[in-house]
Amino acid sequence: MSTSTSSAVKAAFDIEEIRAQFPILKELVHGKPLVYFDNAATSQKPRRVIKAESTYYATINANVHRGVHTLSTKATEAQEASRETIRTHLNAKHAHEVIFTSGTTASINLAANSLGQLLLKKGDEVVISGMEHHSNIVPWQLACERHGAVLKVIPISESGEWDFPSANQLISSSANRVRILAISHVSNTLGTINPVKELVAEAKKRGIVTVVDGAQAVPHLKVDVQDLGCDFYAFSGHKAYGPTGIGVLYGREELLEKMPPWQGGGEMIDQVTLEKSTWAKLPFKFEAGTPNIAGIIGLGEAIRWMNDYDLVAMAAHERTLREHATKELLAIEGLRIIGTAKEKVGVVSFVIDGVHHYDLGTLLDQQGIAVRTGHHCTQPLMERFGVSGTTRASFACFNTNAEVDAMVAATKKAVKMLR
Ligand SMILES: Cc1ncc(COP(=O)(O)O)c(C=O)c1O
Repeated sequence: MSTSTSSAVKAAFDIEEIRAQFPILKELVHGKPLVYFDNAATSQKPRRVIKAESTYYATINANVHRGVHTLSTKATEAQEASRETIRTHLNAKHAHEVIFTSGTTASINLAANSLGQLLLKKGDEVVISGMEHHSNIVPWQLACERHGAVLKVIPISESGEWDFPSANQLISSSANRVRILAISHVSNTLGTINPVKELVAEAKKRGIVTVVDGAQAVPHLKVDVQDLGCDFYAFSGHKAYGPTGIGVLYGREELLEKMPPWQGGGEMIDQVTLEKSTWAKLPFKFEAGTPNIAGIIGLGEAIRWMNDYDLVAMAAHERTLREHATKELLAIEGLRIIGTAKEKVGVVSFVIDGVHHYDLGTLLDQQGIAVRTGHHCTQPLMERFGVSGTTRASFACFNTNAEVDAMVAATKKAVKMLR
């Protein structure tokens, strides 16, 4: 199990070399080679990540931070090496600003619960956008209900972008009641890359705390939390070539120190009496109970694996796939792309006149092609575009133009059958 931060970046982007590292790509689905275009839901895992998890279980399985014995020490070292890898990757100032959670949903719930308690009072406002995943909507609705605050929503343009003047207006409400701005870096449904840095800068001028949902950004962009200027940044391991059940909440030290814990239990305390408890230092104050040790180690390995490549070249490859898919799909009569922003990751969401997305997804699966259909946990966004759902192809670094061609051909065939 390697714990070093990064080896030298590979000189060339060699798609066959990359594909060879994903054992699942050799699987057949309905007798056809798997074409996996559901990476925004969860990405596939390179062999190194799978091995890191199994090596932990096979050689150093023990609980962390508790034992004086050798295995516990080794498990703790491996876990904390992952924390350091993630700190470096996000360019956080301190490793204790990296809190392990079970995923983006848990990270945002932590932020909403704890920040809500710290900041929200009756009549205060929380601003989100109309393209948020349900996990960046519902926790804020709950927090607002709990504290009598009001949820305000940035409108989304026809191209699937924030209406920036409206966003600016919302966060500069005359009564100065906005306390929290919670926005996604990249939309899971549209692929839009949002100008997070610009809006965060505006929020900062007004003392608003900023929470960024980076679930769809970390797998595709080089994220620098200090450059973005945000207070919190959440992401999931499983969308970034890592395991399921592990995620991160980055938080700025100064705020984390002030925030009350969200969950109570072992590991997050300093002293417990039957009357009162005091809290452990960061990050442990926010990590109650036994963590997902194997998941943390796997996530560290996934981030190291990504950093073995030129992330800019990876993003360029995914952009090429998206442009190719967009061009070819638009040749299908009655097909409309939902989300046409200039800045996008490798996501293509579309609807086709007279074709239900569910039927199309089922027929594509018959050809071995995995896409996602439905509302993608963004029901308000579906309502904004007047559709019940879309078919979404979401690309990762291991996908190819030949796979895009296979999807387009299978879509054309399906449309003929369904119309
Ligand atoms: C933008 C965005 N935010 C949050 C989530 C929730 O992530 P998880 O289910 O890993 O907690 C997702 C998952 O699809 C997402 O795409």
